[in-house]
This record gives sequence, C-alpha cells and structure tokens, in this order.
Amino acid sequence: MNSILQCSAVRLFCRMCDDGWQQGWHERNGGNLTYRMRPEEVELCRPFFRLDRPWTSMGVSDPRLGGEYFITTGSGKYMRNVASAPEENIGIVELDSSGGAWRTVWGLENGAVPTSEFPSHYLCHCIKAEQTGGECRVMYHAHPANIVALTFVLPLTARDFSLALWKSETECPIVFPNGVGVVEWMIPGGAEIAEATGEMMRRYDAVVWAHHGLFTSGPDFDSAFGLMHTIEKAAQIHILALSASGGKLRQTIPDEGLSAAAMAFGRRLNEDFI
Ligand code: 13P
Ligand code: ZN
Repeated sequence: MNSILQCSAVRLFCRMCDDGWQQGWHERNGGNLTYRMRPEEVELCRPFFRLDRPWTSMGVSDPRLGGEYFITTGSGKYMRNVASAPEENIGIVELDSSGGAWRTVWGLENGAVPTSEFPSHYLCHCIKAEQTGGECRVMYHAHPANIVALTFVLPLTARDFSLALWKSETECPIVFPNGVGVVEWMIPGGAEIAEATGEMMRRYDAVVWAHHGLFTSGPDFDSAFGLMHTIEKAAQIHILALSASGGKLRQTIPDEGLSAAAMAFGRRLNEDFI
C-alpha cells in the first residue's frame, strides 16, 4: 500500500462524507462522521502513522474502547472538501488506555482537531460496541432539514417521533423497529449532549437532536448512511402529507400493520409505542 487512501475503510469514509454532502445534509461544516477501525485496518495504516503529536483530553472518559483507533472528520471542516483533500479534513486518532484522551496519528493536517462532537461519537461507540458484541463501527451526525423541521412540530418524545416516522413509510418499522430516541435542545459539542445521546443509544440506533440534527449508528457505512436516509425520507413524506392536507391526515398505516410489517421481515417492533 503506497497511500493510506488505498485502505478501503478510509476510501469508504471519504465516499460517505461526499454522499452526505450530495444529499444536502452538510451545510458549511455541519455534521460529522467517525469509524472505529478494525485491528487489521490499523496494521495496514500503521506505516503512515506519526506518533509525535500530543494527547488531548476529551472531556468524557470510558475505558471500554481505550487504545482503539478511529477515523474522524475534523472540527470546522466541510464534508464537501473531504474527497479532494482527505488529509486536511479527516484524520485517524488513537484513544489512550483510559479512553479519556486522543492523539492524532494521521491526517488533520495544519493543526486541525477531531469533530467537536467526538465525545458524543465516542460514548455512543462504547455503548453500541458492547451491545452488539463489537459489530457496531460507524457513528454519523447530519443536519437533514425535514427531521429537524419535525422537531418544531411534534412533541419531543421517542414515542411521538417513532410512530410518526414508522407510519410515514412502510419500510420504517422494518429498518428501525426499535424506534428513534429524542434529545431535547442542548448546546452542541460537549459532555452533556454526549451523555444524553449515549443514554438514548442504549435503546435506539438513531437519536434526534431537537432543532439541530440526527445521529445514526451501524455496523458499516451503508447501514449508518441508509438509516439517516430512511429517517430523513420518512420525515419529508410526513411533512409533505401534513402540508398537503392542512395538517389533517386522511389515513395512515394502521398500528397492527407496523408490527406485522416488521415481523414479515424477521424484526420485532418496539410494542411500547403502539
Ligand atoms: P464540527 O465541525 O466540530 O464537526 O461540528 C459540526 C456540527 O454539526 C456540530 O454539531
Ligand atoms: Zn451538528
């Protein structure tokens, strides 16, 4: 391998940043992406690592993924620029053994640092990795307009959002049968929103941030991106239907249809919301 960009994880990471940009979910520096690398990917990339940069405290700490390596977007960096200049806009960071500090080992050139939402990404990675036996590797945060718009319309509860989204598009109860979590409006980028998002990730694979955006997780880039796309599409359909009907929907998918659709594809709907 004569360039780190030949590592498929790095290549797919860059592609997903561009995919999100193409969808219109990443105005300016909005949104961020992290990927927890597999040991064999770390070994493949290690010849390109520099170990002379300092450790920086993260503001949160969890030893469960201490010592692991993450590909991350840079804070203040634009998703639209990742594909043309990856080494300036993304990087690889190593976590110390306590899981409380990071150091950049590749990329994030010219003094860039990991996304300001790295604490949220990291705590969610810790929770999901444990819950899925290490399967979950991707955390994705974006600012899709329709799901954000719904946070001005619906009560800010997991039940209200899950039902509205499930009922907007038949695939939804199959794609996210547990529903989505909701975090009330908070200041972005700190330990508080990280703890609140992590708490929701215990129960859901996606978490809405009121008046801000959406967080999704998954075992690979396709699933985390697909979950973002499915939720945003359902939110768009819900808003289109409300707008076209003056806020009064004539009919929708029946409650029992939600469970039946999930079951037909081997999934179990979260019946707490029915
Ligand atoms: P960063 O540029 O630090 O990733 O922040 C963007 C964002 O969406 C904050 O929530
Ligand atoms: Zn954001």
